[in-house]
Amino acid sequence: MLFEKYRKAYAPETQWPVWINDKETCIGDKCRFCFETCPTGTIKWSTKTGFPYIAGVGGFDKACINCYNCSAVCPTHSISMSGGYRVFAGRYKTAKAPVLRMPAPVAGSTLTYHELEKDLTEVERVIYRRRSNRIFKDTPVPEELLHRIMEAGRYAPTAGNNMPFTFVAITDRVLIREIEVQSMKVLRWFKRLYLNPTFLKRITVTLMSYFMVRDLDQRPFFPLDKADRRNDNLFYGAPALILVLMDRRGISDPNLDAGICAQNIVLTAHALGLGTCYNGYAATALRYLGGLRKKLGIAYPWKVATTIAVGYAKVKTDHAVAREDVPVRWFR
Ligand SMILES: Cc1cc2nc3c(=O)[nH]c(=O)nc-3n(C[C@H](O)[C@H](O)[C@H](O)COP(=O)(O)O)c2cc1C
Repeated sequence: MLFEKYRKAYAPETQWPVWINDKETCIGDKCRFCFETCPTGTIKWSTKTGFPYIAGVGGFDKACINCYNCSAVCPTHSISMSGGYRVFAGRYKTAKAPVLRMPAPVAGSTLTYHELEKDLTEVERVIYRRRSNRIFKDTPVPEELLHRIMEAGRYAPTAGNNMPFTFVAITDRVLIREIEVQSMKVLRWFKRLYLNPTFLKRITVTLMSYFMVRDLDQRPFFPLDKADRRNDNLFYGAPALILVLMDRRGISDPNLDAGICAQNIVLTAHALGLGTCYNGYAATALRYLGGLRKKLGIAYPWKVATTIAVGYAKVKTDHAVAREDVPVRWFR
């Protein structure tokens, strides 16, 4: 059993969701939003047919993570998906069989989410309809709005009310670009190590997975390939970037506090008509970029917990989509 894990930590047998595009309704070249927004780059564009199609990434036959962003941005509702993302073996074996369903906040109701939505609270609607935005307008975000969303972050609950976070807000496009380009220099190494398997890479990644288990799941490697092919485009042209910094000395689990804080920011941004996209890559890359950290004034005890790209969505992204079911065990 132990060797089973060794063998299959890298490129395990995976079930990818089935992606269906209705060519009768898809407007093809007039839109291309699904292709633009797909985080992993598994949606490709055929210049020959003028329609999107699914293809593999870096030696993998597909790279869909079931985010449904393609269907959320599709103006003609042409995209549907079935089946979930599931890893069958090895270190990253999926813990439960994926069952996807739309939000069903009213237990026992036979109404669809769309029928129920009008009776939900504004908070619920924002939670269900917020999607990561990956196609931004060039329009700058007014500083008052950036202040407003960070203020919502400040009001996040924290262990012992210790508030182990602070923010860096960047609207300087040259600096945003520099973070993107420098981050990709680091991340490209990880991408090269993972994608396009060779015998040596398999062994290296498998061994590394024992020490860096959270960093070597296959899913994060696909978007790196897309960013790499698209001129280091990690932040999707967003005009503003918020870095949520975390005090490493925070009580209990400061990562959790920073995450709750970040989600207050993201949900408030959505409620105010802004689009956001978390970016974990830049947070990882900044660990290795001492010069850039210095420039941004990030020193001990601060660490970048996450980064959030903020701007105005070019395409309407606020749609509820299906998500994997999460079992609840009740003790009554
Ligand atoms: C901590 C964190 C880091 C993320 N990092 C990235 C990232 O680097 N790039 C990206 O395009 N999306 C990133 N995402 C967005 C996820 O891919 C997205 O939330 C997920 O696919 C679900 O889609 P939704 O946000 O539209 O509901 C991140 C999300 C979280 C919470």
